[in-house]
Amino acid sequence: MIGVFDSGLGGLTAVRALEKIMPNENIIYFGDTGRVPYGTRSESTLLKYARQDLAFLRTHDINAVLVACGTVSSIAIDDLRSISDIPVVGVVEPSAEAAVKATKNRIIGVIGTGVTVASGSFNKAIKKIAPDAKVITTACPLFVPLVENGFIEKDNEITRLTAEKYLADIKASGADTLILGCTHFPIISDIIASVMPGVTLINSGEEAAKSIYTMMKNENMLLGDGGDLSYFVSDEISGFEKIAEMFLGHSINGQVRKINIEEY
Ligand code: DGL
Repeated sequence: MIGVFDSGLGGLTAVRALEKIMPNENIIYFGDTGRVPYGTRSESTLLKYARQDLAFLRTHDINAVLVACGTVSSIAIDDLRSISDIPVVGVVEPSAEAAVKATKNRIIGVIGTGVTVASGSFNKAIKKIAPDAKVITTACPLFVPLVENGFIEKDNEITRLTAEKYLADIKASGADTLILGCTHFPIISDIIASVMPGVTLINSGEEAAKSIYTMMKNENMLLGDGGDLSYFVSDEISGFEKIAEMFLGHSINGQVRKINIEEY
């Protein structure tokens, strides 16, 4: 069973990919909806949250963890790995690799939360494999509440205007590839694509899902334990369920439970 977590809905971008790539593996998802957003928090708060999220998932019989959150992947992944005896996969390296593979003109845009952009995590990961690449980053914190509040339909004017404003500099840079470095952002990828025509979008949740699959396959860790999905949140269920269903394209009715994350 794979444990997946994020601050809220964003990690579902990884879950949707996992469902496709490994339909026979059990998945347990935790969305920390009571404490979203993560992307504005201090490092010490993020370390605390990340450890609690992992501790909750470890109360289930998981054999790998997918940190489906750009912010936690940028700040806390080393810490999580240091306390974990099972593999912990984040979104940064897989996305950087996919972007370097995709770019033709070596100009790569990166968008993420404020914390992610300030950490420089994606820049470092890209430069490590492509020192000649030019990287332009922009923090897009408003995308997170827009997604959490369901402003995700293709023709949503408010989200489109926000995207136009946020993406102007990256557009002007001529980047041909854009990493959606916060897992919430692929949920509005139709809108982002309409603002950035001709630009290859890298879905960080999906890239991390592909990466954990490759790792588990190579390490003989795939269990084929049934393909069941269970969802946990730290605040009320119905809002999460509704937007999750809009995004996943299928019902998760009755599969979501609420926990008190402060107990972990
Ligand atoms: N989805 C998360 C990320 O990838 C966190 C967004 C937030 O809670 O601010 O960064």
